[in-house]
Amino acid sequence: MKFNLENKVAIITGGGSGIGKAISKTLAQQGALVHILELNIDNAKETQVEIEKEGGQAKIHQCNIAVQEEVRNTIGNILTEGTIDILVNNAGVAHVGNVENTLESDFDRVYNVNVKGAYNCIFNVIPHMKKTGGVILNMASVASSVAVPDRFAYSVSKGAILTMTYSVAKDYIDFGIRCNSISPARIHTPFVDGFLEKNYPGREAEMFERLSKTQPIGRMGKPEEVADLALFLCSDEAAFITGTDFPIDGGFIKLNG
Ligand SMILES: NC(=O)c1ccc[n+]([C@@H]2O[C@H](COP(=O)([O-])OP(=O)(O)OC[C@H]3O[C@@H](n4cnc5c(N)ncnc54)[C@H](O)[C@@H]3O)[C@@H](O)[C@H]2O)c1
Repeated sequence: MKFNLENKVAIITGGGSGIGKAISKTLAQQGALVHILELNIDNAKETQVEIEKEGGQAKIHQCNIAVQEEVRNTIGNILTEGTIDILVNNAGVAHVGNVENTLESDFDRVYNVNVKGAYNCIFNVIPHMKKTGGVILNMASVASSVAVPDRFAYSVSKGAILTMTYSVAKDYIDFGIRCNSISPARIHTPFVDGFLEKNYPGREAEMFERLSKTQPIGRMGKPEEVADLALFLCSDEAAFITGTDFPIDGGFIKLNG
């Protein structure tokens, strides 16, 4: 079987919703033991139940990835049970606004989760992976390389994730650690529905259509489509790939304008 993850252990942050949930389920379907690090433990539990129903294995850990001590304790506990082969830094938060209407507190919140959260996880798995080799996959965004209008703090944070990917890939290539990132355009997740409900009450359908058309292909992506790319990059079939970003964007970066 290609893309076989039997006997592999994966950590996925933010596996309780959207893209992280799809990645958790897909990696578990291929045989990985999946550890979900989540702020929202009820949602993580739902993912766990769905994975176990399909015959997969998942463990859940309530953990705020923005807090280094919590990440250290959680990853330390996981390591007492065995190895960690795969880390998927998926959890992220967004903010709407240009530089003028981004408060210091908004900037800090986005930075602390999207940038520091990924650093905290990498910082805590690297000593182990240096001994065993491994794969790190970061969730970037089309905003990383071309920015998205009115998403100042978010675009800044996703730019940092892209260069974090390159930096880690360079520093640890000799230890058998591969590090790549995925850059999705708009993917239809609860995150998008919540955004439309909050900002466009009563006009959700119209705005959904408009957001769909920002991808030249004419629709939003599906979490499962991102998960399939994540599976490939985490598998041994991608053994020759490191230090690379993979847009999955319906033509957003190259075909718009
Ligand atoms: N949905 C999109 O259109 C899109 C596009 C490009 C990139 N992305 C990126 O993909 C990733 C997942 O996005 P999504 O749309 O699935 O989001 P989502 O909001 O549906 O899920 C994110 C999950 O992360 C968890 N989380 C948030 N902060 C956390 C923290 N501090 N510690 C632990 N868990 C935390 C949340 O509880 C939630 O379950 C994010 O990094 C996002 O920036 C999303």
